[in-house]
Amino acid sequence: MKTSLHLMALAIGIGATGLAQASDGETLLKDSGCLSCHAKAEKIVGPAFLAIADKYRGDKDAVASLVQSIQNGSKGKWGRIPMPGHSSISQDDLKTMARHILATKP
Ligand code: HEC
Repeated sequence: MKTSLHLMALAIGIGATGLAQASDGETLLKDSGCLSCHAKAEKIVGPAFLAIADKYRGDKDAVASLVQSIQNGSKGKWGRIPMPGHSSISQDDLKTMARHILATKP
């Protein structure tokens, strides 16, 4: 019992430093600094997540394209302001965020 509590505390500790990928999409977006440029329904610097979900609805390669854009940066798709790349985020976390954005509902 003591051991499992200890393990749990350890897991939470690791999760908080971002080494584990146990986070959900919303937390990842927040912790990765995405929300300083993006919001659910309004354009800030980058397009609203709702607008992105709308644009890629029905596109079966959407997750892969968004992962590319977030990882390598993106410019010219939405306007004149480019998005910087995020090369230190793991593929798993990128996918979780891409899926979360694509699932945005009004
Ligand atoms: C410095 C501001 C900024 C930050 C930080 C930022 N974005 Fe962006 N994002 C933008 C801008 C500007 C665009 C539009 C780029 C374009 O026109 O191609 C964009 C576009 C996007 C797109 C659409 C890409 C496409 O191919 O259509 C997605 C998805 C996205 N951002 C997700 C994220 C995620 C996830 C993060 C956090 C890891 C993030 N952004 C962080 C500014 C930002």
